[in-house]
Amino acid sequence: MNISEIIRTKRDCKELTTEQIEYFIKEYAYGNIPDYQVSSLLMAIYLNGMSEREILDLTITMSKSGEILDLSDIPGIKVDKHSTGGIGDKVTMVVMPLVASFGVPVIKMSGRGLGYTQGTADKLEAIPNFKVNLEMDEMIRNVKRIGIALMTQSENIALADKKLYALRDVTQTVESIPLIASSIMSKKIASGADKILLEVTCGSGAFMEDEFRARTLAETMVKIGNMAGKETIGVITNMNQPLGRFCGNALETMEAINILKGQGDYDVVEVCCVLGAYMLKMAGVGGSIVENMKVVQEKIDSGEGLAKFEELVQRQWGDTRVIKEPERLVTAKYKIPVVAEESGFVEKIEAKNIGQAVVNLGGGRMKKEDVIDYAVGIEVLKKIGDKVETGDTLMYIYANSEEKGKEQVEFLRKSYELTYEPVKKLKAILDVVEGV
Ligand code: URA
Repeated sequence: MNISEIIRTKRDCKELTTEQIEYFIKEYAYGNIPDYQVSSLLMAIYLNGMSEREILDLTITMSKSGEILDLSDIPGIKVDKHSTGGIGDKVTMVVMPLVASFGVPVIKMSGRGLGYTQGTADKLEAIPNFKVNLEMDEMIRNVKRIGIALMTQSENIALADKKLYALRDVTQTVESIPLIASSIMSKKIASGADKILLEVTCGSGAFMEDEFRARTLAETMVKIGNMAGKETIGVITNMNQPLGRFCGNALETMEAINILKGQGDYDVVEVCCVLGAYMLKMAGVGGSIVENMKVVQEKIDSGEGLAKFEELVQRQWGDTRVIKEPERLVTAKYKIPVVAEESGFVEKIEAKNIGQAVVNLGGGRMKKEDVIDYAVGIEVLKKIGDKVETGDTLMYIYANSEEKGKEQVEFLRKSYELTYEPVKKLKAILDVVEGV
Protein backbone atom coordinates (compact mmCIF):
# COMPACT_ATOMS: atom_id res chain seq x y z
CA MET A 1 0.00 0.00 0.00
CA ASN A 2 1.23 3.52 -0.64
CA ILE A 3 -0.11 7.04 -0.26
CA SER A 4 -0.06 7.88 -4.01
CA GLU A 5 -2.51 5.08 -4.67
CA ILE A 6 -4.74 6.32 -1.82
CA ILE A 7 -4.72 9.87 -3.22
CA ARG A 8 -5.57 8.55 -6.70
CA THR A 9 -8.49 6.49 -5.33
CA LYS A 10 -10.06 9.52 -3.68
CA ARG A 11 -9.24 11.82 -6.60
CA ASP A 12 -11.18 9.42 -8.81
CA CYS A 13 -14.20 9.54 -6.45
CA LYS A 14 -13.78 5.94 -5.30
CA GLU A 15 -14.19 4.63 -1.75
CA LEU A 16 -11.12 4.11 0.41
CA THR A 17 -10.91 0.76 2.16
CA THR A 18 -10.66 0.48 5.94
CA GLU A 19 -7.02 -0.62 5.51
CA GLN A 20 -6.21 2.40 3.32
CA ILE A 21 -7.69 4.77 5.92
CA GLU A 22 -5.79 3.07 8.76
CA TYR A 23 -2.56 3.20 6.76
CA PHE A 24 -2.94 6.91 5.97
CA ILE A 25 -3.74 7.93 9.56
CA LYS A 26 -1.08 5.76 11.22
CA GLU A 27 1.71 6.61 8.81
CA TYR A 28 0.90 10.32 8.90
CA ALA A 29 0.79 10.33 12.72
CA TYR A 30 4.22 8.62 12.78
CA GLY A 31 5.60 11.27 10.41
CA ASN A 32 6.08 8.84 7.50
CA ILE A 33 3.93 10.74 4.99
CA PRO A 34 4.84 14.32 4.03
CA ASP A 35 2.35 17.17 4.44
CA TYR A 36 2.20 17.84 0.67
CA GLN A 37 0.75 14.39 -0.02
CA VAL A 38 -1.70 14.56 2.88
CA SER A 39 -2.77 18.05 1.69
CA SER A 40 -3.58 16.56 -1.68
CA LEU A 41 -5.62 13.76 -0.09
CA LEU A 42 -7.46 16.25 2.15
CA MET A 43 -8.39 18.32 -0.90
CA ALA A 44 -9.64 15.21 -2.69
CA ILE A 45 -11.80 14.38 0.37
CA TYR A 46 -12.98 18.00 0.52
CA LEU A 47 -14.04 17.94 -3.14
CA ASN A 48 -15.33 14.38 -3.48
CA GLY A 49 -16.64 13.60 0.01
CA MET A 50 -16.69 10.28 1.82
CA SER A 51 -19.22 7.52 2.37
CA GLU A 52 -20.68 6.91 5.84
CA ARG A 53 -18.47 3.86 6.22
CA GLU A 54 -15.34 5.81 5.31
CA ILE A 55 -16.22 8.57 7.81
CA LEU A 56 -16.77 6.00 10.56
CA ASP A 57 -13.44 4.31 9.76
CA LEU A 58 -11.65 7.65 9.72
CA THR A 59 -13.22 8.67 13.04
CA ILE A 60 -12.45 5.42 14.84
CA THR A 61 -8.89 5.28 13.51
CA MET A 62 -8.24 8.88 14.58
CA SER A 63 -9.79 8.27 18.01
CA LYS A 64 -7.30 5.43 18.51
CA SER A 65 -4.33 7.56 17.47
CA GLY A 66 -3.92 8.86 21.04
CA GLU A 67 -5.01 8.22 24.58
CA ILE A 68 -8.54 6.88 25.25
CA LEU A 69 -9.78 8.21 28.56
CA ASP A 70 -11.40 5.94 31.08
CA LEU A 71 -13.97 7.79 33.19
CA SER A 72 -15.48 4.65 34.71
CA ASP A 73 -14.13 5.67 38.13
CA ILE A 74 -16.70 8.47 38.18
CA PRO A 75 -20.15 7.15 39.06
CA GLY A 76 -23.18 8.12 36.94
CA ILE A 77 -23.87 8.69 33.24
CA LYS A 78 -21.35 11.14 31.80
CA VAL A 79 -22.72 13.32 29.00
CA ASP A 80 -20.22 15.36 27.02
CA LYS A 81 -21.14 18.49 25.09
CA HIS A 82 -19.46 19.97 22.05
CA SER A 83 -20.07 23.01 19.89
CA THR A 84 -18.98 23.16 16.27
CA GLY A 85 -17.91 26.72 16.99
CA GLY A 86 -19.45 30.13 16.72
CA ILE A 87 -19.32 33.76 17.67
CA GLY A 88 -20.13 34.76 21.24
CA ASP A 89 -20.84 31.15 22.21
CA LYS A 90 -20.45 31.13 25.99
CA VAL A 91 -22.97 28.31 26.44
CA THR A 92 -20.55 25.80 28.01
CA MET A 93 -19.80 28.13 30.94
CA VAL A 94 -23.54 28.39 31.66
CA VAL A 95 -24.93 24.95 30.82
CA MET A 96 -22.29 22.83 32.52
CA PRO A 97 -22.72 24.29 36.04
CA LEU A 98 -26.50 24.21 35.59
CA VAL A 99 -26.42 20.50 34.70
CA ALA A 100 -23.94 19.76 37.50
CA SER A 101 -26.31 21.46 39.96
CA PHE A 102 -28.69 18.49 39.35
CA GLY A 103 -26.00 16.08 40.57
CA VAL A 104 -25.13 14.94 37.02
CA PRO A 105 -21.34 14.51 36.69
CA VAL A 106 -19.88 17.05 34.28
CA ILE A 107 -16.47 16.71 32.65
CA LYS A 108 -15.81 19.08 29.81
CA MET A 109 -12.63 19.42 27.85
CA SER A 110 -12.57 22.56 25.78
CA GLY A 111 -10.33 23.96 23.13
CA ARG A 112 -8.65 27.31 22.84
CA GLY A 113 -9.62 29.90 20.26
CA LEU A 114 -8.16 29.64 16.78
CA GLY A 115 -9.03 31.90 13.85
CA TYR A 116 -12.29 33.83 14.24
CA THR A 117 -13.81 31.56 16.92
CA GLN A 118 -12.91 31.79 20.60
CA GLY A 119 -12.46 28.84 22.94
CA THR A 120 -13.95 28.19 26.38
CA ALA A 121 -10.51 27.44 27.88
CA ASP A 122 -9.39 31.02 27.10
CA LYS A 123 -12.63 32.49 28.41
CA LEU A 124 -12.21 30.69 31.74
CA GLU A 125 -8.59 31.83 31.95
CA ALA A 126 -9.87 35.41 31.88
CA ILE A 127 -10.79 34.73 35.53
CA PRO A 128 -7.66 35.61 37.54
CA ASN A 129 -5.72 32.46 38.55
CA PHE A 130 -8.26 30.02 37.05
CA LYS A 131 -6.43 26.79 36.24
CA VAL A 132 -7.65 25.10 33.06
CA ASN A 133 -4.78 22.65 32.57
CA LEU A 134 -5.85 19.90 34.96
CA GLU A 135 -4.12 16.54 35.19
CA MET A 136 -6.45 13.58 34.76
CA ASP A 137 -6.30 12.54 38.41
CA GLU A 138 -7.03 16.11 39.51
CA MET A 139 -9.99 16.27 37.16
CA ILE A 140 -11.39 12.99 38.49
CA ARG A 141 -10.89 14.16 42.10
CA ASN A 142 -12.72 17.43 41.36
CA VAL A 143 -15.66 15.72 39.68
CA LYS A 144 -15.99 13.30 42.60
CA ARG A 145 -15.84 16.20 45.05
CA ILE A 146 -17.97 18.94 43.44
CA GLY A 147 -19.47 17.21 40.37
CA ILE A 148 -17.80 19.33 37.69
CA ALA A 149 -14.48 20.03 35.97
CA LEU A 150 -13.90 22.33 32.99
CA MET A 151 -10.46 21.97 31.47
CA THR A 152 -8.35 22.05 28.34
CA GLN A 153 -8.37 19.07 26.05
CA SER A 154 -5.73 16.51 27.06
CA GLU A 155 -2.76 16.92 24.70
CA ASN A 156 -2.69 13.21 23.99
CA ILE A 157 -6.22 12.75 22.68
CA ALA A 158 -6.65 11.90 18.95
CA LEU A 159 -3.10 12.86 18.06
CA ALA A 160 -3.65 12.39 14.33
CA ASP A 161 -6.45 14.97 14.42
CA LYS A 162 -4.10 17.61 15.87
CA LYS A 163 -1.73 17.25 12.92
CA LEU A 164 -4.52 17.03 10.39
CA TYR A 165 -6.41 20.02 11.79
CA ALA A 166 -3.30 22.21 11.62
CA LEU A 167 -2.81 21.17 8.00
CA ARG A 168 -6.49 21.71 7.11
CA ASP A 169 -6.27 25.18 8.61
CA VAL A 170 -3.64 26.24 6.06
CA THR A 171 -4.91 24.28 3.04
CA GLN A 172 -8.51 25.57 2.96
CA THR A 173 -9.93 22.14 3.78
CA VAL A 174 -11.64 22.91 7.09
CA GLU A 175 -15.25 23.28 5.89
CA SER A 176 -15.71 19.67 4.82
CA ILE A 177 -18.46 17.59 6.45
CA PRO A 178 -16.49 14.28 6.57
CA LEU A 179 -13.40 16.06 7.92
CA ILE A 180 -15.25 18.12 10.55
CA ALA A 181 -17.39 15.16 11.63
CA SER A 182 -14.43 12.80 12.02
CA SER A 183 -12.30 15.47 13.71
CA ILE A 184 -14.91 16.28 16.35
CA MET A 185 -16.24 12.78 16.89
CA SER A 186 -12.78 11.18 17.17
CA LYS A 187 -12.01 13.49 20.10
CA LYS A 188 -15.41 12.99 21.70
CA ILE A 189 -15.19 9.20 21.43
CA ALA A 190 -11.67 9.19 22.91
CA SER A 191 -12.72 11.52 25.76
CA GLY A 192 -14.53 8.72 27.53
CA ALA A 193 -18.06 10.11 28.10
CA ASP A 194 -21.02 7.74 27.78
CA LYS A 195 -23.16 10.08 25.67
CA ILE A 196 -22.57 13.12 23.49
CA LEU A 197 -24.65 16.26 22.96
CA LEU A 198 -23.64 18.33 19.94
CA GLU A 199 -24.39 22.01 19.43
CA VAL A 200 -24.21 22.29 15.65
CA THR A 201 -24.03 25.95 14.73
CA CYS A 202 -25.51 27.25 11.49
CA GLY A 203 -25.25 30.65 9.82
CA SER A 204 -22.93 33.49 8.92
CA GLY A 205 -20.80 32.93 12.03
CA ALA A 206 -20.43 29.16 11.66
CA PHE A 207 -18.59 26.64 9.48
CA MET A 208 -21.96 25.54 8.09
CA GLU A 209 -23.64 28.60 6.66
CA ASP A 210 -26.88 27.02 5.44
CA GLU A 211 -29.39 24.77 7.17
CA PHE A 212 -29.03 21.90 4.71
CA ARG A 213 -25.30 21.56 5.37
CA ALA A 214 -25.72 22.03 9.13
CA ARG A 215 -28.34 19.28 9.19
CA THR A 216 -26.13 16.99 7.10
CA LEU A 217 -23.22 17.59 9.49
CA ALA A 218 -25.47 16.97 12.51
CA GLU A 219 -26.88 13.75 11.00
CA THR A 220 -23.40 12.53 10.09
CA MET A 221 -22.05 13.09 13.61
CA VAL A 222 -25.14 11.66 15.31
CA LYS A 223 -24.88 8.54 13.14
CA ILE A 224 -21.16 8.11 13.86
CA GLY A 225 -21.68 8.58 17.60
CA ASN A 226 -24.50 6.05 17.69
CA MET A 227 -22.54 3.56 15.56
CA ALA A 228 -19.62 3.95 17.97
CA GLY A 229 -21.97 2.95 20.81
CA LYS A 230 -22.46 6.41 22.33
CA GLU A 231 -25.94 7.89 22.20
CA THR A 232 -25.57 11.20 20.37
CA ILE A 233 -28.00 14.08 19.80
CA GLY A 234 -27.38 17.19 17.69
CA VAL A 235 -29.09 20.52 18.39
CA ILE A 236 -28.82 22.92 15.44
CA THR A 237 -28.48 26.49 16.69
CA ASN A 238 -28.71 29.78 14.86
CA MET A 239 -25.35 31.48 14.37
CA ASN A 240 -26.47 34.18 11.93
CA GLN A 241 -25.58 36.66 14.65
CA PRO A 242 -23.49 36.40 17.82
CA LEU A 243 -25.13 34.42 20.58
CA GLY A 244 -26.05 36.80 23.40
CA ARG A 245 -24.51 40.23 23.51
CA PHE A 246 -20.74 40.02 24.05
CA CYS A 247 -17.82 38.57 22.06
CA GLY A 248 -14.35 38.40 23.55
CA ASN A 249 -12.92 36.37 26.39
CA ALA A 250 -13.44 38.32 29.63
CA LEU A 251 -16.60 39.95 28.24
CA GLU A 252 -18.14 36.54 27.54
CA THR A 253 -17.17 35.24 30.97
CA MET A 254 -18.86 38.26 32.52
CA GLU A 255 -21.94 37.62 30.36
CA ALA A 256 -22.01 33.94 31.38
CA ILE A 257 -22.01 35.01 35.04
CA ASN A 258 -24.83 37.45 34.31
CA ILE A 259 -26.85 34.74 32.55
CA LEU A 260 -26.47 32.55 35.65
CA LYS A 261 -27.73 35.54 37.65
CA GLY A 262 -30.87 35.58 35.49
CA GLN A 263 -29.81 38.56 33.38
CA GLY A 264 -29.23 36.88 29.98
CA ASP A 265 -30.65 37.81 26.57
CA TYR A 266 -33.49 35.59 25.32
CA ASP A 267 -31.49 33.81 22.58
CA VAL A 268 -28.59 32.64 24.70
CA VAL A 269 -30.87 31.68 27.60
CA GLU A 270 -33.04 29.61 25.27
CA VAL A 271 -30.02 27.77 23.84
CA CYS A 272 -28.69 27.09 27.37
CA CYS A 273 -32.06 25.78 28.59
CA VAL A 274 -32.58 23.52 25.55
CA LEU A 275 -29.06 22.07 25.70
CA GLY A 276 -29.31 21.65 29.47
CA ALA A 277 -32.68 19.90 29.05
CA TYR A 278 -31.23 17.39 26.55
CA MET A 279 -28.17 16.74 28.73
CA LEU A 280 -30.40 15.97 31.70
CA LYS A 281 -32.61 13.67 29.62
CA MET A 282 -29.56 11.82 28.28
CA ALA A 283 -28.27 11.46 31.84
CA GLY A 284 -31.60 9.93 32.84
CA VAL A 285 -32.73 12.90 34.92
CA GLY A 286 -36.06 14.73 34.82
CA GLY A 287 -38.87 14.29 32.30
CA SER A 288 -39.69 15.65 28.86
CA ILE A 289 -37.56 18.28 27.17
CA VAL A 290 -40.18 20.96 27.93
CA GLU A 291 -40.27 19.97 31.61
CA ASN A 292 -36.48 19.85 31.76
CA MET A 293 -36.20 23.32 30.21
CA LYS A 294 -38.41 24.58 32.99
CA VAL A 295 -36.31 23.02 35.75
CA VAL A 296 -33.09 24.30 34.15
CA GLN A 297 -34.59 27.82 34.17
CA GLU A 298 -35.50 27.27 37.84
CA LYS A 299 -31.83 26.53 38.61
CA ILE A 300 -31.00 29.92 37.11
CA ASP A 301 -33.75 31.65 39.09
CA SER A 302 -32.77 29.98 42.38
CA GLY A 303 -29.08 30.84 41.93
CA GLU A 304 -28.04 27.17 42.22
CA GLY A 305 -26.34 27.24 38.78
CA LEU A 306 -24.37 30.32 39.81
CA ALA A 307 -23.41 28.69 43.14
CA LYS A 308 -22.08 25.66 41.22
CA PHE A 309 -20.09 27.95 38.92
CA GLU A 310 -18.62 29.65 42.00
CA GLU A 311 -17.67 26.25 43.45
CA LEU A 312 -15.99 25.38 40.15
CA VAL A 313 -14.01 28.64 40.10
CA GLN A 314 -12.90 28.09 43.69
CA ARG A 315 -11.94 24.44 43.11
CA GLN A 316 -9.88 25.41 40.06
CA TRP A 317 -8.02 28.15 41.97
CA GLY A 318 -9.81 31.09 40.34
CA ASP A 319 -10.69 34.37 42.05
CA THR A 320 -14.32 33.87 43.14
CA ARG A 321 -14.73 37.59 43.79
CA VAL A 322 -15.44 37.99 40.05
CA ILE A 323 -18.89 36.49 40.69
CA LYS A 324 -20.05 39.41 42.81
CA GLU A 325 -17.69 41.95 41.28
CA PRO A 326 -17.33 41.16 37.54
CA GLU A 327 -15.27 44.37 37.18
CA ARG A 328 -12.41 42.31 38.65
CA LEU A 329 -12.18 40.67 35.22
CA VAL A 330 -9.76 42.58 33.02
CA THR A 331 -11.32 45.53 31.22
CA ALA A 332 -10.17 47.34 28.11
CA LYS A 333 -8.99 50.96 28.11
CA TYR A 334 -11.17 52.21 25.26
CA LYS A 335 -14.88 51.80 24.54
CA ILE A 336 -15.54 52.96 20.98
CA PRO A 337 -19.07 53.12 19.53
CA VAL A 338 -19.98 51.94 16.03
CA VAL A 339 -22.75 54.30 15.01
CA ALA A 340 -25.44 53.69 12.36
CA GLU A 341 -25.28 56.02 9.36
CA GLU A 342 -28.77 55.13 8.17
CA SER A 343 -32.04 53.95 9.65
CA GLY A 344 -34.03 50.75 9.08
CA PHE A 345 -34.39 47.27 10.48
CA VAL A 346 -31.40 44.95 10.88
CA GLU A 347 -31.75 42.26 8.21
CA LYS A 348 -28.32 40.61 8.26
CA ILE A 349 -25.14 40.62 10.34
CA GLU A 350 -21.91 39.17 8.96
CA ALA A 351 -21.18 37.37 12.22
CA LYS A 352 -17.73 36.09 11.17
CA ASN A 353 -16.57 39.71 10.90
CA ILE A 354 -17.30 40.19 14.59
CA GLY A 355 -15.15 37.18 15.47
CA GLN A 356 -12.48 38.52 13.12
CA ALA A 357 -12.64 41.97 14.75
CA VAL A 358 -12.02 40.35 18.16
CA VAL A 359 -8.92 38.67 16.69
CA ASN A 360 -7.80 41.97 15.09
CA LEU A 361 -8.09 43.65 18.51
CA GLY A 362 -5.77 40.98 19.97
CA GLY A 363 -8.47 38.79 21.56
CA GLY A 364 -7.83 35.71 19.41
CA ARG A 365 -5.06 33.76 17.78
CA MET A 366 -3.96 33.55 14.19
CA LYS A 367 -1.23 31.09 15.25
CA LYS A 368 -1.32 28.64 18.16
CA GLU A 369 1.57 30.44 19.91
CA ASP A 370 -0.08 33.92 19.85
CA VAL A 371 -0.64 35.55 23.24
CA ILE A 372 -4.17 36.88 23.63
CA ASP A 373 -5.60 39.97 25.25
CA TYR A 374 -8.51 38.80 27.43
CA ALA A 375 -10.01 42.27 27.85
CA VAL A 376 -10.83 43.22 24.27
CA GLY A 377 -14.02 42.44 22.41
CA ILE A 378 -17.33 43.62 21.03
CA GLU A 379 -20.71 44.38 22.59
CA VAL A 380 -23.54 43.92 20.11
CA LEU A 381 -26.45 46.25 20.84
CA LYS A 382 -28.48 45.86 17.65
CA LYS A 383 -29.40 42.40 16.48
CA ILE A 384 -31.47 41.02 13.62
CA GLY A 385 -35.02 42.41 13.70
CA ASP A 386 -34.08 45.47 15.78
CA LYS A 387 -35.08 48.95 14.61
CA VAL A 388 -32.20 51.33 14.06
CA GLU A 389 -32.25 55.13 13.77
CA THR A 390 -29.40 57.08 12.22
CA GLY A 391 -26.95 57.84 15.02
CA ASP A 392 -27.88 54.80 17.12
CA THR A 393 -25.01 52.74 18.50
CA LEU A 394 -24.88 49.37 16.76
CA MET A 395 -21.95 48.03 18.77
CA TYR A 396 -19.24 48.99 21.21
CA ILE A 397 -15.65 48.04 20.54
CA TYR A 398 -13.57 47.34 23.66
CA ALA A 399 -9.90 47.93 22.77
CA ASN A 400 -6.58 48.38 24.48
CA SER A 401 -5.15 50.24 21.49
CA GLU A 402 -7.21 53.21 20.35
CA GLU A 403 -5.76 52.89 16.86
CA LYS A 404 -6.66 49.19 16.50
CA GLY A 405 -10.10 49.90 17.94
CA LYS A 406 -10.81 52.69 15.44
CA GLU A 407 -9.60 50.49 12.59
CA GLN A 408 -12.49 48.09 13.29
CA VAL A 409 -15.25 50.72 13.17
CA GLU A 410 -15.87 50.76 9.40
CA PHE A 411 -15.35 47.00 9.10
CA LEU A 412 -18.01 46.37 11.73
CA ARG A 413 -20.44 49.00 10.43
CA LYS A 414 -20.30 47.27 7.04
CA SER A 415 -21.14 43.97 8.70
CA TYR A 416 -24.73 45.19 9.07
CA GLU A 417 -27.39 45.16 6.36
CA LEU A 418 -30.50 47.22 7.01
CA THR A 419 -33.85 47.19 5.23
CA TYR A 420 -36.99 49.38 5.32
CA GLU A 421 -39.32 46.45 5.99
CA PRO A 422 -39.71 45.10 9.54
CA VAL A 423 -37.68 41.90 10.04
CA LYS A 424 -38.59 38.98 12.32
CA LYS A 425 -36.27 38.16 15.23
CA LEU A 426 -34.32 34.96 14.71
CA LYS A 427 -35.24 31.61 16.20
CA ALA A 428 -32.37 30.50 18.43
CA ILE A 429 -32.93 26.75 17.88
CA LEU A 430 -33.35 25.57 14.30
CA ASP A 431 -33.75 21.83 14.74
CA VAL A 432 -32.82 18.76 16.75
CA VAL A 433 -31.34 15.63 15.19
CA GLU A 434 -31.67 12.39 17.15
CA GLY A 435 -32.15 8.70 16.58
CA VAL A 436 -30.59 8.74 13.08
N1 URA B 1 -13.79 21.68 15.50
C1 URA B 1 -12.99 20.59 15.43
O1 URA B 1 -12.57 20.05 16.45
N2 URA B 1 -12.68 20.10 14.23
C2 URA B 1 -13.13 20.64 13.07
O2 URA B 1 -12.82 20.14 12.02
C3 URA B 1 -13.96 21.78 13.14
C4 URA B 1 -14.28 22.28 14.38
